[in-house]
Amino acid sequence: MTTFLGDEEIRRLAAEHGTPLLVLDCETVRRQVRLLRAALPKVDFYYAVKALPHPAVLRTMQQQGVGFDLASSGEIEQVRRFYVNPRNTIHTHPIKKRNDIRDSLRFGCTTFVVDNRDELSKFVEFRHRVGLLLRVSFPNPDATVDLSRKFGCAPAETLDLLRVARQLGLHVKGLSFHVGSQSRTASMHAHAVHECARIIREYNRDGDTPLSTLDIGGGFPVDYCGTMPDIDAFCAPIREALTSLGGDIHVIAEPGRYLVAPAAISITSVMGKARRCDRPWYYLDDGVYGAYSGRIFDHANYPIRSLRPGPAVSSVLAGPTCDSIDIVHDDIALPALEIGDLVIGEMMGAYTISTSTEFNSLERCRVVVLHEDLTSDSVAHIA
Ligand SMILES: Cc1ncc(COP(=O)(O)O)c(C=O)c1O
Repeated sequence: MTTFLGDEEIRRLAAEHGTPLLVLDCETVRRQVRLLRAALPKVDFYYAVKALPHPAVLRTMQQQGVGFDLASSGEIEQVRRFYVNPRNTIHTHPIKKRNDIRDSLRFGCTTFVVDNRDELSKFVEFRHRVGLLLRVSFPNPDATVDLSRKFGCAPAETLDLLRVARQLGLHVKGLSFHVGSQSRTASMHAHAVHECARIIREYNRDGDTPLSTLDIGGGFPVDYCGTMPDIDAFCAPIREALTSLGGDIHVIAEPGRYLVAPAAISITSVMGKARRCDRPWYYLDDGVYGAYSGRIFDHANYPIRSLRPGPAVSSVLAGPTCDSIDIVHDDIALPALEIGDLVIGEMMGAYTISTSTEFNSLERCRVVVLHEDLTSDSVAHIA
């Protein structure tokens, strides 16, 4: 659960800036980086910018010596502003337009993820300038957002694709996988590491350019409802599995959610209320077309509370648009609220404002940043 703001401070920020508001705490981002590094000590991180591309987050990651996982030309432009060393970036979208490749190379990012023959062919004209990671698919019932239906080649296809790449004169640096976001266990991470270690060993036995990198993706979970193990316990099977890789394999990861989810809270106000089917409905000034978009796209169940004490009854929280899908929660225990009361969404840093819209011409929430380090000499130098 997010702990970086007390209720008095929440009230003060809402009074000062108005609502809807997203409060983003860079100290929490730094703490999440520290915790994940401690849990996976031999792994280099590339922050998945898509989770929360806010400039304060990008600056903080850069200061912490975290690299960047980019998936579009727009994301390249976001990090370019921070004079990020392109050698500390990877382009991880498995399906790209030719212009995406060109934009990335112009920026200086030369590592790309691919997962099929057509995608390999796109790199032939750029073959002297790129290093590729072949993404392998590991469907994962434990993940809230399983990405392996849309991306990745089957493990059984991998060696064939590696040979095709070699025939095309392409340099494949290694393998990658993403077992899906918000994975409840690390079983699939561990299985995927073992499978990739086996494939790498087999390929390297006869390859003249050995595979030297394994990208273990994201999927590191946060605790939305008090049921997840801490990150050190979660990562134990991954640490164990990584010992099956030779020491000469460089291991990297692309965490998004874990690094930013606990670093933001949403502050909304009740702007209207009604009684429907014998239950109280409260209409907030932000909803699923705004910062709560992750309720739909990310299937996320944020901890939500009001600041008012009192006996709680089953209530509905609705968003401000005219659309009926705009329901933030359709069965939440809340005390009787008044118009103007504040409602707080916790753990709302990942896949929230990054997927929000301006539907109904409603403005996006304002973002207030806490504890950002703006001193110019605080940027860590990355090798
Ligand atoms: C290619 C890729 N890398 C990294 C991530 C970040 O994953 P997570 O937020 O689960 O750490 C995603 C999320 O969708 C992704 O698609």
